[in-house]
Amino acid sequence: MSEFIPVLTQKEIAKRVVEVADAISTDYRDRDLILIGILKGAFVFLADLIRHISIPVKVDFMCASSYGRSTSSSGRVKIIKDVDLDLKNKDVVIVEDIVDTGITLTHLVAHLKSSGAASVRICALIDKQERRQTEIVADYVCHSVEKGFLVGYGLDYAEFHRNLPEVYHLKL
Ligand code: IMP
Ligand code: MG
Repeated sequence: MSEFIPVLTQKEIAKRVVEVADAISTDYRDRDLILIGILKGAFVFLADLIRHISIPVKVDFMCASSYGRSTSSSGRVKIIKDVDLDLKNKDVVIVEDIVDTGITLTHLVAHLKSSGAASVRICALIDKQERRQTEIVADYVCHSVEKGFLVGYGLDYAEFHRNLPEVYHLKL
């Protein structure tokens, strides 16, 4: 039987979402901000985050899939859906559910910079440190964990559990 061990309550998540949204609103005042949500995992986080951002902001989405994660062999990332908005001279904040090895974000940051964005920063709901393989550092982080497979609040296991309003460590 799989076990769901509580990691973050709705209240804890909501508190940090407001704090991070405030920080972004301050840092990007008088700038041309575009938030880019990484599908699918970031959709719940982004939906809550954006409602606490108090400056003009545009939203777009990207979808990426990586190969070889289970073997950590290739670390190649394929972009399945690119952004629609013109990023030229815009300040971009990538909104991601969780940073694990960092391979996906390393690739996405390079891709967005090559699209002409003036700046690219990262906002992550969760920074999971144990398996990091790249130098990537998230600029805005709601919560840090050392390890564990997490589900809920957008995070899935085999596409399930995204609907849970809290975050759990799933023990299979
Ligand atoms: P990375 O390239 O290894 O950093 O992969 C990050 C992606 O892997 C995230 O966007 C998630 O989709 C997925 N992922 C990594 N860790 C977890 C987890 O604990 N739960 C659910 N998805 C995860
Ligand atoms: Mg993801």
